[in-house]
Amino acid sequence: MQARIHRLVADRTQALAAVSHDLRSPIQRLRLRAGFLEDVEAQQAIDGDLDEMEGMIESTLAYLRGETESEEPRQADLAAILTTLVDDATDRGATATYAGPDRLPMRLRPVAIKRALANLVDNAVKHGDGARVALEENPGSVTVRVEDDGPGIPEAALETVFEPFQRLDASRHRGTGGTGLGLAIARQVVNAHGGSVALANRPGGGLVATVLLPRPHATGRDGAAVVGAGTLPPVTPPGERRA
Ligand SMILES: Nc1ncnc2c1ncn2[C@@H]1O[C@H](COP(=O)(O)OP(=O)(O)OP(=O)(O)O)[C@@H](O)[C@H]1O
Ligand SMILES: [Mg+2]
Repeated sequence: MQARIHRLVADRTQALAAVSHDLRSPIQRLRLRAGFLEDVEAQQAIDGDLDEMEGMIESTLAYLRGETESEEPRQADLAAILTTLVDDATDRGATATYAGPDRLPMRLRPVAIKRALANLVDNAVKHGDGARVALEENPGSVTVRVEDDGPGIPEAALETVFEPFQRLDASRHRGTGGTGLGLAIARQVVNAHGGSVALANRPGGGLVATVLLPRPHATGRDGAAVVGAGTLPPVTPPGERRA
């Protein structure tokens, strides 16, 4: 029975991956055809829809690939990743702020982590009308908080929204678009770093997403001895950042 369930899930995953992948060509063709339209407004609207479809395909494929697994952990600056995300959001016209250290070098998979955190910032902007991002160092770990002043999420759904393709009615009705994969990907990535991500409603209203990432301290000058390195190789001590 268990083997059959496994096979079923594997088959469905493969089918979904194949469909997602094969949708790319017709989307490209539609984009070309839309280019010939004389109605510029319609052309732009179609382009916008196609962008959205491509985004959905991209995130579905990334999720199915479990993209995290393939990226090598390396020394990166978590503070820089967050400020870039906040800057990107404000460039797009959203309200977003960052509070925290200017630099926080640590060992992680930067592309995957950036995607995970981007999903949280994107949610705060899209579902909550703005993002307040905060980064904090604690002994042995770092905390990233992404807060908004939006409607929050009903208590009963705070966990289920992490399941792939889960979207609340409120967001469907508002027509925010999206695949319902943002949180599933965020959790996949953060868990692969030995961390955790959780949502909570803030007492004053709005939602807070809290990401906890282990950040083992390097002991000795060579940075060889580390505590709680989890699945990631040892951290390089501060000051020894590699490009
Ligand atoms: N900050 C938030 N405030 C209110 N609701 C939220 C917030 N973040 C997520 N949600 C709810 O959780 C659902 C799932 O979020 P998730 O990021 O997984 O998918 P999405 O944002 O709908 O689409 P995608 O991220 O794939 O573009 C959302 O559709 C929304 O209903
Ligand atoms: Mg999202």
